[in-house]
Amino acid sequence: MSIGANLAEDTGSSTSSEKRRFEPPADLAAEANVTSAAYDRAAQDRLGFWAEQAERLTWAEPFTEVLDWTDAPFAKWYVGGRLNAAYNCVDRHVEAGRGDQVAFHFVGEPGDTRDITYADLKDEVSRAANALLDLGVRTGDMVAIYLPMIPEAVVSMLACARIGATHTVVFGGFSAEALASRIEDCRAKVVITADGGYRRGAPSALKPTVDDAIGKLGGNSPVDHVLTVRRTGEYVSFDDATDVWWHDVVDGASPEHTPEAFDAEHPLYVMYSSGTTGKPKGILHTTGGYLVGAAYTHHAVFDLKPGSAEEKGDVYWCTADIGWVTGHSYIVYGPLANGVTQVLYEGTPDSPHQGRWWEIVERYGVTLLYTAPTAIRTFMKWGREIPDRYDLSSLRLLGSVGEPINPEAYLWYRNVIGGDRCPVVDTWWQTETGQMMISPLPGVTAGKPGSAMQALPGIGVDVVDENGDPVPNGSSGYLVLTEPWPAMLRTLWGDKDRFVETYWARFEKQGYYFAGDGAKKDEDGDIWILGRVDDVMNVSGHRLSTSEIESALVSHPRVAEAAVVGAADETTGQAVFAYVILRSGAEEGASAGDALVHELRTHVGKEIGAIAKPRKITIVPELPKTRSGKIMRRLLRDVAENRAVGDTTTLSDPAIMAQIAGDDRAVK
Ligand code: WTA
Repeated sequence: MSIGANLAEDTGSSTSSEKRRFEPPADLAAEANVTSAAYDRAAQDRLGFWAEQAERLTWAEPFTEVLDWTDAPFAKWYVGGRLNAAYNCVDRHVEAGRGDQVAFHFVGEPGDTRDITYADLKDEVSRAANALLDLGVRTGDMVAIYLPMIPEAVVSMLACARIGATHTVVFGGFSAEALASRIEDCRAKVVITADGGYRRGAPSALKPTVDDAIGKLGGNSPVDHVLTVRRTGEYVSFDDATDVWWHDVVDGASPEHTPEAFDAEHPLYVMYSSGTTGKPKGILHTTGGYLVGAAYTHHAVFDLKPGSAEEKGDVYWCTADIGWVTGHSYIVYGPLANGVTQVLYEGTPDSPHQGRWWEIVERYGVTLLYTAPTAIRTFMKWGREIPDRYDLSSLRLLGSVGEPINPEAYLWYRNVIGGDRCPVVDTWWQTETGQMMISPLPGVTAGKPGSAMQALPGIGVDVVDENGDPVPNGSSGYLVLTEPWPAMLRTLWGDKDRFVETYWARFEKQGYYFAGDGAKKDEDGDIWILGRVDDVMNVSGHRLSTSEIESALVSHPRVAEAAVVGAADETTGQAVFAYVILRSGAEEGASAGDALVHELRTHVGKEIGAIAKPRKITIVPELPKTRSGKIMRRLLRDVAENRAVGDTTTLSDPAIMAQIAGDDRAVK
């Protein structure tokens, strides 16, 4: 894959041509948790810095060495240290007199709400831990969790951590097939599920999928018990030999449980990476380093001020699902280790109306919001008059994660949601990194719309060429991590070779972690993520970023969302194919056809350069997305290259591809 020629260098890109800078608000900077001194401290003694950050946790036994990297790339952090993750997330806050502080304001989709204090959480986690022990789960066993976004999901994870069982949370939208392969790969002894959850105003069943998954595994199923939460009250089939109800075994269990301390490297969880073909990759995170990395970054990047409502502590809301790494690091482990009050919302943003999120922000006085660009662009599509109906003045900081945030979405987020007073922190990280790696610090960094800016203190990041040499400012290349970090994945479950091959083989000589993303250093050396390197196109020797062209398309007032792929072309190597969704109302009128397509091509030409003009633009009603909201460009590439469309089972709406392929043919 050539990364030599880069269009952004030649012509200027839509992203880097956005020149606005947003200084940290003076009041935030004056009181910021983390100042520029953190960068200095980490630069002078990186491991000393991480040793200091470990003091945020309560250790049952202190560590004797910060990092053992002698068996690289297999890391051991906080060697010899012992701790309990659940104790750190729950008990110690209660012991410190914070038992009455709300841990979660739970909002169910149908409108039911529950406030759960840290004391409640301690009792509930202890009960669940005792129930799991009664079901035969022991330290080192695996438990699969397949639940909607209800408090029992958090409780289940912490109950596992409390007894040293390793959890693997499978997103509730995954199919029986996907669930079965994960259960089988990690040999889960118990599956925790619910009869169902609520989505878009209706119950959506889960237990039947678990039954199906176990049925598929047949005699090879490792599952002894299925523990089911009653949420919707819908009928579920029950096998007395294996099935138990949560309310039967957890509600009656003792709320007393003494947590045991585990080694810092004890396996905390396995998270399977989504959307890839073949055997799922089980990314392993361990206990001590992971918790330090998640807690420190949550404290630093959100400038988190924990405390009760009376103390005017922050009210934090991360809209991710617990089935993804963002939910693990930034709903469960980081925020709870930091003792924050947060919102947990079960449902979708448009149920029962498109103002649901903003209603929640207003009702609970949310101060810190963490969400994904895809959600922001959806809200843009729905129009600003919806959030404008609510009082969002409690917000003081906005976070973004999961994909490059195009400047238009950044500016809309900052302006419409953040009232032009809230800094936006664009946080780059991955399931593998476990913690945020590149992000502005809200009290230090002047934000640039579309840039994730700089490596966080204690983190080593660079952008390198094919040979692993750093590229100069103004150029792009491969994003690498140059130093081990506390929350790094330790291996792929049961597949050390694949771990080494996937992440460490490419820049073996330098010992760099290969992130799989392309990135650019701007003239100031700030980092702009260009998207996965497999999504980068090479057109006539020019390297084009899918996200850069998407960003250009979305900057057109009539476009709501865009996906771009590179399709094979005999002459130019690849050609740019674009699929766009129009903003509501924009479909009407005569110009929805050829004239608009022409206008959009011209617009991209204007924003980036003629070379970036899509060969073809197809207007579509929806884009193929995984249930986590990632666009599956592979499928669009199939359509662009006139192939049969590949596996659509991980799409949130598999029917969409037939529609896109049909539309595409119609306009050829
Ligand atoms: C992308 C989600 C640009 C990137 C936490 C990465 C981003 C992949 C950003 C990991 C960001 C994540 N800007 N791209 N702020 N954050 N990505 O494992 O391509 O679901 O490699 O982790 O998402 O996705 P994952």
